[in-house]
Amino acid sequence: MRERTTIGIVGGGPSGLMLSHLLHREGIEHIVVEARPREEIENTHRAGILEQGSADMLTDGVSDRVLHDGARHDGIDIRINGESHHVDFQGLVGASTFLYPQTDVFIDLADKAVEDGRDVRFGLGPVDVDDLTGSPLISYVDPESGERIEIECELLVGTDGSRSTCRRSIPEGERRAFYREYPFAWFGIMAETPPSHDELIYARSEAGFALISQRTPKLQRLYFQCDPGTDPNAWTDEDIWATFRERVNFGGFELNEGPIVHKSVLGFRSFVSEPMRWGNLLLAGDAAHTVPPTGAKGLNLALQDVRILAESLAEWHSARSDSALTAYSERCLRRVWKAQNFSYWMTSMLHANPEASEFDQRRSVAELRTVVESEHGKAWLAESYTGWPNERTHS
Ligand code: PHB
Repeated sequence: MRERTTIGIVGGGPSGLMLSHLLHREGIEHIVVEARPREEIENTHRAGILEQGSADMLTDGVSDRVLHDGARHDGIDIRINGESHHVDFQGLVGASTFLYPQTDVFIDLADKAVEDGRDVRFGLGPVDVDDLTGSPLISYVDPESGERIEIECELLVGTDGSRSTCRRSIPEGERRAFYREYPFAWFGIMAETPPSHDELIYARSEAGFALISQRTPKLQRLYFQCDPGTDPNAWTDEDIWATFRERVNFGGFELNEGPIVHKSVLGFRSFVSEPMRWGNLLLAGDAAHTVPPTGAKGLNLALQDVRILAESLAEWHSARSDSALTAYSERCLRRVWKAQNFSYWMTSMLHANPEASEFDQRRSVAELRTVVESEHGKAWLAESYTGWPNERTHS
């Protein structure tokens, strides 16, 4: 069966669904297709921090739940071998972040799509794309009827994550990939205990990095720096807590410990694919770029891409302006590279790099001290962490 739509969106995660919400408001016809079932996306643990600008995008017509169920954080704590430095976001730059897990962002967006009666199709299995320089075609085999479905679109948007089929459909010679690997990863756990602290703690110690985050009043999210080859199942709860204690239990501070209900290892990578537009294909979010998680930028960056993309698509739709599409890539990449720089900087300054010389290890601790012992340094960090001011829709 062949269908037609104006904009085909491949990928129904937070970026694809936020784009669908924005296009729906503009009255632009579109269809969202997603390989994975909705329940699988809802149950995949991802990031937890929203910038003010991202929270604004949700409260602007999707859901106000972030204001009730999310926790507003007015700062973070940076610890160097137990010595605590508070970075007061409100005092320094008048901004806050929200602890609101990506799974909740997804649920709000998916519920709103159902409420609006939008055409969002989950659980389709493999989705193919073709003819990206002509009239792009999406195709998949309907999981229920076994029938091959083709959707012809005027433009195709790839919000299909870091392993993007859409990005890979751009011929090698037509795009450039820039990336950087890191000699460490994060061991992430979910533990059934109340939060250990009211804000996030980013801790650097001789033994390596640890991040003490939160999820709910009864569930903590924590990470520690590990070797990228680590097998999470080879670690007992006791091994894990002993590692955290060594990295954060200093000077009277004690982590709340309890049953570990989930563990996984997250690889680290910095990646950008340029350009973000090729022919009639536009990429947004992880399909075009990845950042290591230390700066809490991944989801925020994706939502900002989509905000700019929706504006560009509205301009294209009303005036058939091709330049609006070209400008999209340029506008996004400026911010993407700023976020790459910030995420790289936070990552390299907070982790103990096993490949660095002793000189460099000491130098990077000094770099961290230079930042946290200076009001200007902390303000720079706060501004980048909470989102650059020109990206906020409301102040
Ligand atoms: C999280 O809570 O999952 C989280 C928070 C801050 C980060 C990364 C992950 O920088």
